[in-house]
Amino acid sequence: MSKKIDLYSSSYSNYSLETYSEVRLETYGEDYGQTSWVSTEESHEIPELLQLTSDSSVLDIGCGSGGYAVGLAKRIGCRVLGFEINESGVKTANALAEDEKVSDLVKFEQHDASEELPYEDDSFDAIYSTDVLCHVPRRREVLSNTQRLLKPGGKFVFSDALVIGGLISYEELENRCPDGLYFFSPPGINGKRPVIPS
Ligand SMILES: C[S@@+](CC[C@H](N)C(=O)[O-])C[C@H]1O[C@@H](n2cnc3c(N)ncnc32)[C@H](O)[C@@H]1O
Repeated sequence: MSKKIDLYSSSYSNYSLETYSEVRLETYGEDYGQTSWVSTEESHEIPELLQLTSDSSVLDIGCGSGGYAVGLAKRIGCRVLGFEINESGVKTANALAEDEKVSDLVKFEQHDASEELPYEDDSFDAIYSTDVLCHVPRRREVLSNTQRLLKPGGKFVFSDALVIGGLISYEELENRCPDGLYFFSPPGINGKRPVIPS
């Protein structure tokens, strides 16, 4: 049986340790505090997919330690609101925004994506979420909440790290779930016409 590890809290509360930074650099090639399985090339596609400009108002669902959102604000000048269920992530993210002098553009809050979110309808031009929905129950509601928050014509992009299309052993599944909730999906569930069980 795999040992349970609080993967995200240890990563976010040790964000600035050199060892963590070295691991991220070696894994991704660029370090913005990522804890996802999204490659750097895929990360670079997000602003274009979302058609971001300096006028955009953007929501990051499950922002982790906030490095990606802070980078967007610095490069593009857009406003970004990130939220996260993990308290250490939110704390580290807000400190990072202060350090990088973009706290007028970027803010981070603690919320649970599976709950009703305290944001008005039609609040955002764009929403992204990298490798978060695989941890969140009630995906259908989460997706319809996302639609509610987007302005008409707004864009949403998300990735799902836990789509499995082949044989997998119980041990392997367990090793991929260090702690918390993990939802594995069949291929196609996130497609154009998703069939999501409620
Ligand atoms: C794989 S990490 C990805 C973090 C970040 N998006 C990135 O790309 O580095 C998944 C994140 O989802 C967050 N998370 C898990 N369940 C959540 C929930 N119900 N609501 C909001 N965030 C959640 C975790 O705390 C973690 O930071």
